[in-house]
Amino acid sequence: MAKAKTVFRCSECAAEAPQWTGWCSSCGETGTLAEAIASGGSRQRHLSLAPSATAVPIAEATGGGVAPEPTTIGEADRVLGGGLVPGSVTLLGGEPGVGKSTFLLHLAAAVARAGRRCLYVTAEESAQQVAARAERIGAVADGLWLAAETVLPEVLRLVDDVEPQLLVVDSVQTLVDPELGAVAGSVGQVRGCAQVLVGEAKRRGLMVVMIGHVTKDGGLAGPKVLEHVVDTVLSFEGERHHALRLLRATKHRFGGTHELGLFEMGDGGLAGVPDPSALFLADRQVGIPGSVVAPVLDGQRPLLVEVQALVVDTQAPMPRRTVQGIDSGRLAQVLAVLERRAGLYFGKSDVHVAISGGARVREPGADLAIALAVASAKTDRPVSPNLVACGEIGLCGGLRQVQGTERRMAEAARLGFATAVVPASAPDPPSGLRALRTGSLLDAVTAARLVNGA
Ligand code: TYD
Ligand code: MG
Repeated sequence: MAKAKTVFRCSECAAEAPQWTGWCSSCGETGTLAEAIASGGSRQRHLSLAPSATAVPIAEATGGGVAPEPTTIGEADRVLGGGLVPGSVTLLGGEPGVGKSTFLLHLAAAVARAGRRCLYVTAEESAQQVAARAERIGAVADGLWLAAETVLPEVLRLVDDVEPQLLVVDSVQTLVDPELGAVAGSVGQVRGCAQVLVGEAKRRGLMVVMIGHVTKDGGLAGPKVLEHVVDTVLSFEGERHHALRLLRATKHRFGGTHELGLFEMGDGGLAGVPDPSALFLADRQVGIPGSVVAPVLDGQRPLLVEVQALVVDTQAPMPRRTVQGIDSGRLAQVLAVLERRAGLYFGKSDVHVAISGGARVREPGADLAIALAVASAKTDRPVSPNLVACGEIGLCGGLRQVQGTERRMAEAARLGFATAVVPASAPDPPSGLRALRTGSLLDAVTAARLVNGA
C-alpha cells in the first residue's frame, strides 16, 4: 500500500492545504489547520459508486420518481408530504432536550410496525438508555433494531448485517469516520460522515434520518453544506416548559415546506395534536381584560391562539416591556401606533404580552389582536369572548389584510367564534361568522368597545 500523504486540513471547512499556514485560505478562519492524512483512496470509491450519468430529454425522465412511504405517524407524514422517500436523507434539527431522539424512536417504531425493518443507531446514549425509553413510550416493535455505535464504518457494517429500510442516526455530530482525521464534531467530520451516508442511501435505496444539533442562534451546527447534501431538512421546535412541539420542513426536495406538524410531549412520549386550536384555547378564561384570540397562519395551517396582555402602572423611568411568543420589536411598534393613532398612552406603564400555550407567532396577522389585547388591558375592559381579530397594522394606523384571511376566518367559525374584526378589504366570512370591517386601528379599538364612550 502506498504511503499516505500528509496534508493540512481546516477543521472548519475541511479544505486541504499542502503546507501549514496561520489561517485557512479557503474559509479565512485562523488557527484551524491541522495535520491530517490526505483524503482520497477508499472515500473516493464510495463517491464513484453511482453509475455515470447520461443526458436524456426531460420528457423521458419524468414519472420515474419514487413514491414516499408513509411513516404512519400522521403529523410527520403531513409535513413530509406523505412519508419518507426510499434513497433519501433527512436531517432533523432542534435544540438539545426538545425531543428529537424521542420523536425518531416513535417514528422508527411506527415504520417497523408498518412492516419495514429499521435500524436505530445511537451515538450519544447507551443502547440500554434508548431501550428503556422505547419501553416507556411504547416504541418496542418487531423489526426495530438498536445499536450504540459512533464509528461510521461500523455503522455501515451494521447496515450490511441488519439490511434495514430505514436507518436513524442519532446524531451526525457524534459520528466519526477515522479516515477523515479531524476530531469528532468538527465541521470536516460532520460533512464527511453526512456525505458518506448520502452516498449509501442512494446506493441502497435506504431511507436515512439523522439528527443534527443546532447552535444557540438556532442554525444547524456544522457546515452549511450539510443542508445542501441532504434531501430534506426538518426542524423540531418547542418551548422547554411547554408540552407543545412543532415539526416543520425548511427544505424538502419531494414536496412543499408549508405544512406544520404538531405534537404534545407527555410522560408517554409524543402524541400528535390533530386539533391544535382547541388545545390552545382549552384553558382560556373568558371575560377578562387583556385576552384576545388571533387566527394565525403557520405555513398553511390556521391556528387560533390567545394573546394575553397585562398593563400595569409604574413609576420607573424606563417602563418594562416583556414578550413571550412574539417579537419585542413588533410590540414596540404596536404600542407606538396605539399611542399616536388611538390615544392610548403607555409611557408610565409596564406592558407584558404573551401567546398562551407556548405557541410562537412570527407573522403580522396577529398585530391587531396584540393591539386589542393591550388596549383591553390598558382600559380594563374585556372584549367579547366570541371575538377574534386579524390584520396587519401599518405605521400610520391603517389596517391591512394578511395572507389567508379566508382560511383564518374559517378556522374561527369552526371553533364557534361569532365575530371577526378584520381590515376593510377582507373577503366575506364563512356562514356563522360576522366580519366587523374596520379601516383603522382606532376604528377597531372603538368597534371592540375598548375606549370610553363606546
Ligand atoms: P430527547 O428526545 O432526549 O431530546 P433530544 O434528543 O432532542 O435532546 O427528550 C428530552 C426531553 O423530553 C427530556 O428532558 C424529557 C422529555 N421527555 C418527556 O417529557 N416524556 C418522555 O416520554 C420522554 C421520552 C422525554
Ligand atoms: Mg437526543
